[in-house]
Amino acid sequence: MNSTRIPGSLLFISLLGLASPIVNAEETRPPEGGGVPIYQQILDSLRESDSVLPMVPEVHPVVTLSNGEAVVPPQCYTRTEIRHNPCYVCHQDPIDGRENVMADADLQEAYSFSDMGMTNHWKNLFEDRTARAAAISDEEILRYIGEDNYSELSSRLREKDFKGWIPDLQNLHLGKDAFDVQGFAKDGSDWVAFNYKPFPSTFWPTNGSTDDVMIRLHLRFRTDREGKKSAEIYKANLAILEANIKGVKEIGSLPVDENLVGKDLDGNGSLEVVTRITRTGSWVGAAEAEPLDTSLYPQGTEFLHTVRYVGIGKDGSIVSSTRMKEVRYSKKAKSFSKAMYARRYDLEAMEKEAGNLPAYHELGQLGIDNGNGWALQGFIEDKKGRLRAYTYEENFSCMGCHNTIGSTIDKTFSFPRKLDGTKGWGYLDLKGMPDAPNKGETLGEIVTYLARAGGGSEFRNNDEMSARWLKEDGTTDPGKLAEAKDVYDLITPSRERALALNKAYRTIVEDQDFIYGKDAVLTPPKNVYDKIDNETSPTLPIDKIYKWNILLDWPDQAATK
Ligand code: HEC
Ligand code: HEC
Repeated sequence: MNSTRIPGSLLFISLLGLASPIVNAEETRPPEGGGVPIYQQILDSLRESDSVLPMVPEVHPVVTLSNGEAVVPPQCYTRTEIRHNPCYVCHQDPIDGRENVMADADLQEAYSFSDMGMTNHWKNLFEDRTARAAAISDEEILRYIGEDNYSELSSRLREKDFKGWIPDLQNLHLGKDAFDVQGFAKDGSDWVAFNYKPFPSTFWPTNGSTDDVMIRLHLRFRTDREGKKSAEIYKANLAILEANIKGVKEIGSLPVDENLVGKDLDGNGSLEVVTRITRTGSWVGAAEAEPLDTSLYPQGTEFLHTVRYVGIGKDGSIVSSTRMKEVRYSKKAKSFSKAMYARRYDLEAMEKEAGNLPAYHELGQLGIDNGNGWALQGFIEDKKGRLRAYTYEENFSCMGCHNTIGSTIDKTFSFPRKLDGTKGWGYLDLKGMPDAPNKGETLGEIVTYLARAGGGSEFRNNDEMSARWLKEDGTTDPGKLAEAKDVYDLITPSRERALALNKAYRTIVEDQDFIYGKDAVLTPPKNVYDKIDNETSPTLPIDKIYKWNILLDWPDQAATK
């Protein structure tokens, strides 16, 4: 087997946990001399293997990458045609008081790809899957997406003595039925499901995937000062966290008995059951003295995100499938102050300036550390549809969106976008969810995105969305949009489209080449570049550059209780 090595001293740099300059573009090339490149060897083995753990070559993981810029997602290669902007939801300048000081709004208006980044490596986008998808019958795909590939995962990982996070939420494949009405996992694992508005385009079911997100705070935030677990303290701390992530002083909460918490949470002078918390400046229970600041999660916070096929419910409605495409997990392994984050962003910017490709601290089976406190790992379907751990490159691709873009809050997307207060606790439910505007705007987020991006997906390749919501000339149709009752109406596909996209994605699973892109597309989108030239590719004019706040302005608390 061929192997390319990088000097040992460079390994030490990466152990600092910073996004370190450990390679340049030259070194990620496949070995010379006609050998099979390492990424190809991995791919070949994935097409044969039945193991829950992928092959890990005995080389530094960085040299296993086929795409050293896998942190740059496909969205960045959209042809904007000097007017369509799907970029603003990620690339944003800092908002006062946040920990995120990334300041990358300029990427909306000027290309600054690295040499390697100028080529679109997501070549799966350019594969026509029509014929292969047509060969899969409706019955076959419905049966496939209806199967449970989640329940066996934990025991398979344990058998292999897997060191990373092992899924510990029972019956998650059932979706809603794994949780009580307040969102608490029925299995007592303390995972809590919340109801959030899916991120524009990427996580709209009409573009091929459904999903759900759960949060779990560290045990300290779930116990009282005597060390006993307490549901009341957990509920109060979850609400306190929500208020701080959203940067508000008070917030609605699940009913919390102040007598059991031992604190007047709503400051009204008496202890009773409350559903609104105004004392959001410190934690309660065992974690009372722990640091607390706006837009930061406390150390030990975990997120669980499952990405699924677009399922069809018994009544024909669009639901999440039983089968999971991916089980994604993140954990805040180390918390930093805002000042420390600011310094880290500076370092990152300096490295980019110096022309270094991004690199991260590899934690083996624990995933990859983004250098900013979070470790991410996960599982994806093997060729037969059983879940297996990510390869390094599959995992590496998580490090852009969850690290170095300006729009996120402490590297997360969904929790800041949770419906405020009580209504936002419980399993994801798009029905009845209003198209709330982003903070600082008046029109709904989805309606606004359709207009700015010029379509119902970043690539403007969603004909069904265009037919539903746009006029012939490509502008939004207010008359049609006024008929949409809720987020469900706006962003779920027809049954036909759902099945077609499920089939398209199934062919990527067969190929196992997720490193070339996971977008469920049947035919190559016309509006995507395969190459961009920083100097000559047309860019957006200033009146098409937008400020955007990931937070939503949900209707009055009273109305959403
Ligand atoms: C879903 C989020 C998302 C969207 C939408 C998006 N980008 Fe990006 N973009 C990223 C991420 C993540 C990176 C990698 C950041 C890094 O280098 O760590 C990136 C990188 C880039 C880079 C390279 C920057 C560098 O320093 O190497 C450019 C240029 C860019 N994007 C332009 C665009 C443009 C233009 C659009 C719209 C047509 C767009 N992006 C849409 C997430 C996004
Ligand atoms: C193109 C950008 C992008 C990439 C790449 C990406 N994510 Fe995310 N991630 C998101 C968005 C957007 C959400 C919110 C989901 C929603 O709104 O439905 C999210 C949500 C999550 C969450 C829940 C917590 C949160 O931040 O909201 C976890 C955990 C997660 N992703 C893990 C991963 C892992 C692991 C990978 C790598 C396989 C990954 N993500 C790659 C954009 C991205």
